[in-house]
Amino acid sequence: MSVAKKDYKRITTKTLVDMKSRGEKISMLTAYDFSMAQIVDGAGIDVILVGDSASNVMAGHETTLPITLDQMIYHAASVVRAIHRSLVVVDLPFGSYQSDPKEALRSAIRIMKESGGHAVKMEGGQEIKESIKRILNAGIPVMGHLGLTPQSIYKFGTYTVRAKEESEAKQLKEDALLLEKIGCFAIVLEKVPAKLAEEVAKSLTIPIIGIGAGGGVDGQVLVIHDMLGMNTEFSPRFLRRYMDLHTEMTQALQQYSKDIKSGDFPNKEEQY
Ligand code: KIV
Repeated sequence: MSVAKKDYKRITTKTLVDMKSRGEKISMLTAYDFSMAQIVDGAGIDVILVGDSASNVMAGHETTLPITLDQMIYHAASVVRAIHRSLVVVDLPFGSYQSDPKEALRSAIRIMKESGGHAVKMEGGQEIKESIKRILNAGIPVMGHLGLTPQSIYKFGTYTVRAKEESEAKQLKEDALLLEKIGCFAIVLEKVPAKLAEEVAKSLTIPIIGIGAGGGVDGQVLVIHDMLGMNTEFSPRFLRRYMDLHTEMTQALQQYSKDIKSGDFPNKEEQY
């Protein structure tokens, strides 16, 4: 077992369950590369998600569907090389686990062996139960993902709030219970009514990490590009922007260009 690079107490899946039992909220953010992961880990964020949202924010695809297992492994390995403390959870991408449990296990094993990530995340409940069980049986921790599941966007046709209808809410509660029962260590709940999310969080002992699921859950996750204000087009109600990095970066880059063109950069101190 590798030793932590510095003297930090590493976050484990058990740490997260213990945090929930103490009523301590869990912070989670996405990261997809070494430099960003170094900052996220250094800032004390508990969980880094190498999300398949890399397909959108890193590769510019409209959906999360095109990203491949090889590409996820590349991003995850870059993140793992940067971290000292955070738990690194890696999304199993679309097409790498839906066909059968054996393929799901092979994909999860590749992520663990080739990236060094600590756990995988999978979208769905009852319908992927056998795949989750097989992965868990191999000793690989699994985080579930219910509510809005972007890998199924073409089934639903919209990114609007899920489980507003009683039947869908009932199914979601059953799926959450099932994921806990078979051994998932946490569940992401995306874009569901706050009341339902709180009810689910209260009924389970494993942590519920929300995104657009209100404050009654055990932790929160956001896509880092969104919360830093790197995207200008994406403004869902649940998003809090902590920076306007798009404007700040644009101003810095414009200044850089101006300084070159005016001959101000580099000056005497900036040369050999
Ligand atoms: O891929 C991702 O970034 C995610 C979060 C939105 C939870 O799954």
